[in-house]
Amino acid sequence: MAYRSSERAHSLLSRAGFFGVVFAGCLSAMAAVAEESSPTPPFNLTDPQIIDEGRVQFAQTCVYCHGNAGSGGKAGPISGRTDLTQDYLFTTISNGKRAGSLVMPTWKDSLDEPTIWKLVAYVLSLQAKPAPEAKTQ
Ligand code: HEC
Repeated sequence: MAYRSSERAHSLLSRAGFFGVVFAGCLSAMAAVAEESSPTPPFNLTDPQIIDEGRVQFAQTCVYCHGNAGSGGKAGPISGRTDLTQDYLFTTISNGKRAGSLVMPTWKDSLDEPTIWKLVAYVLSLQAKPAPEAKTQ
């Protein structure tokens, strides 16, 4: 009798374990879906190598409108701007932006995601630099 009830307890426990695993599986599937909707950088954005690759890309693609090191030109300055967050930068660089008659094209068609993240890393690194207005004083 004692043997039987412990056997039953055991099978109840393993059933609870089974549902526990299924439940945990559901949670991690939900976490994976949630991750997809918010952009996540594929590498460390403070890595000097990544920032440097972003700087090279910026000099080729962005300097024409945003000036040397983002100091401003046709478009406003993007250096020394602590209001620009990682998510905002990724979304804005990907989709482009319009300010009156000035238009920044969509970059997601011509640059792949890792390249856009390198640009984000570079622009973030420019936050530490003084804003161009501050330089002239
Ligand atoms: C054809 C000109 C042009 C080019 C090239 C260009 N931009 Fe822009 N960019 C603009 C304009 C215009 C705006 C919107 C005006 C503004 O926000 O100052 C803008 C806005 C931005 C903003 C948002 C600034 C804010 O205050 O919201 C970021 C960040 C940015 N550009 C990054 C880039 C990066 C990185 C590249 C290179 C891949 C690039 N831009 C290339 C014209 C350009």
